[in-house]
Amino acid sequence: MIRLTPIKRHNAGEFLHLKVHESQQQFGDFDYADRLIDAYLEWATNGWQPYVFGITFGESTAVGFIKISYELAENSEYANNDLNYFNIDVFWIDKEHQGKGYGRIVMQEVLKLLKTMPQGESAGCIFLDYAPENEAARKLFTSFGFVETGEIHDGCTCARLVL
Ligand SMILES: CC(C)(COP(=O)(O)OP(=O)(O)OC[C@H]1O[C@@H](n2cnc3c(N)ncnc32)[C@H](O)[C@@H]1OP(=O)(O)O)[C@@H](O)C(=O)NCCC(=O)NCCS
Repeated sequence: MIRLTPIKRHNAGEFLHLKVHESQQQFGDFDYADRLIDAYLEWATNGWQPYVFGITFGESTAVGFIKISYELAENSEYANNDLNYFNIDVFWIDKEHQGKGYGRIVMQEVLKLLKTMPQGESAGCIFLDYAPENEAARKLFTSFGFVETGEIHDGCTCARLVL
């Protein structure tokens, strides 16, 4: 069974070894420690705690990582967006565990969670982005209804799902 496991002091070390394939490193920053620091800085700067989950399979096998932030419309980094939104900042499945259906299960769980508005305020949509040549990401996200907006951020294609 795939689980989203909040990362805390006691289990933070269990996800340190997670890596993407070398050919996928060009698609983003998949450095676990870097992304935990990002999460801390978001909390320290904005006061809002991002969702940072280790992804586990079975009892506790670490298979991936996902980080999601929540943004107010007034701070939107996306053009023509007047909705509060979630941003899936980074998501990866370890190279040893890709292609087993885990990514799809994680997305199902994440969408279920975000639709409950766990931050206690409304959000109208979810944004994410991926490198234009990242076909696995494009296929996965568009299969959940994400639509490319035409906007490019740091060379990456932006896509949005209305909640
Ligand atoms: C994108 C990623 C998370 C998918 O995770 P995964 O566990 O391997 O995906 P799944 O096995 O659940 O497959 C889900 C869907 O993704 C797509 N997909 C996965 N691997 C693919 C590949 N090599 N080529 C094309 N499509 C692929 C397919 O649409 C697949 O659905 P299908 O099996 O019904 O056709 C994984 O490839 C990854 O971690 N990539 C590196 C990091 C990254 O690019 N993250 C996204 C941007 S932040």
